Amino acid sequence: MKFPPWTSVSEAADLLKAGEVVAIPTETVYGLAGNAYNPEALAKIFAAKERPTFDPLIVHIADIAELENVARDIPDAAYRLAEAFWPGPMTMILPKKDCIPDLCTSALPSVAVRFPSHPVAQAIIKESGLPLAAPSANLFKHVSPTTAEHVAAQLADRIAGIVDGGPCSVGVESSIISLVGAPTVLRPGAITPEMFASVVGPVAIKESSSKPGQAMEAPGQCDTHYKPSVPLYFGTVPTNYKLPEHTVRIAFGQQAGPIPATVSLSETGDMTEATANLYAFMHDLDTPDYDLILVDPIPNTGVGMALNDRLKRASIKALP
Ligand code: TXA
Ligand code: MG
Repeated sequence: MKFPPWTSVSEAADLLKAGEVVAIPTETVYGLAGNAYNPEALAKIFAAKERPTFDPLIVHIADIAELENVARDIPDAAYRLAEAFWPGPMTMILPKKDCIPDLCTSALPSVAVRFPSHPVAQAIIKESGLPLAAPSANLFKHVSPTTAEHVAAQLADRIAGIVDGGPCSVGVESSIISLVGAPTVLRPGAITPEMFASVVGPVAIKESSSKPGQAMEAPGQCDTHYKPSVPLYFGTVPTNYKLPEHTVRIAFGQQAGPIPATVSLSETGDMTEATANLYAFMHDLDTPDYDLILVDPIPNTGVGMALNDRLKRASIKALP
């Protein structure tokens, strides 16, 4: 395998300036970064991920002031949200500036912008001197990576570098809020609708939907996103149900279940710990050793909304 050795911050900055794509750590998940101003670099991102170009990319910055380089007509609410939640796991949708290529936004007139809190991400953005377009560093429709090893397993032969910044502390993709029109949450994450509302007043929540072949207004919202190869079932199993022999169970807390749990997202039922562990467990258990991954129900409150959202997308509709 090409990696490790992992790519250093300065090597990554040089590669990005040269139009290459490099996987970088952020606090949410690893991103596959490229120069947001350079259509060729953006094309490399879509190609490496096998991602359709109707699914637009998030642009990463390392200073609130850089918002004005990529977005225009920025409402006061955006600055209040930035002060409250940046750097951190929040992406804002704003009208885009012309300097952002259509390929980045799938020809939408808006751009997604995030200022990550991970110090390595910030160092790479600063040293490259560029806004970095970065979707999650996984193949399209696969589980997002939360370690450098996850990235290497999916993309090593397709990209110029991977920077190792350790396991991601948040573990689930950023919350996305659109400020084009009334504030609307497009994707749940660690910043909850209540937290947004505390800064900008009531927020709408967009139900997920996708129209094949069109730029998605509500993002990441292909129903078939986030799927491991082993069938995963999220929900309660009827007591008399006969499970396949090689079933593995992911518990939340210490609930009694149909088979002994192999792993618990958090023994104490701590939602933050559970979120940080979820994708790593999905990666680790996604091996031919298993016929079925069962995931216990998780309370749909706080960041639990994000876990429920991702697990519903990952889940098969009915038990086999
Ligand atoms: O935490 C994250 O957001 C990670 C890290 C790397 O920052 N990135 C991430 O990117 O999750 P990605 O590409 O996997 O998901 C971004 C979603 C996409 O599904 C896309 O549809 C949506 O953001 N998006 C991007 N630009 C948009 C726009 N102008 N309007 C609406 N949605 C947009
Ligand atoms: Mg993704």
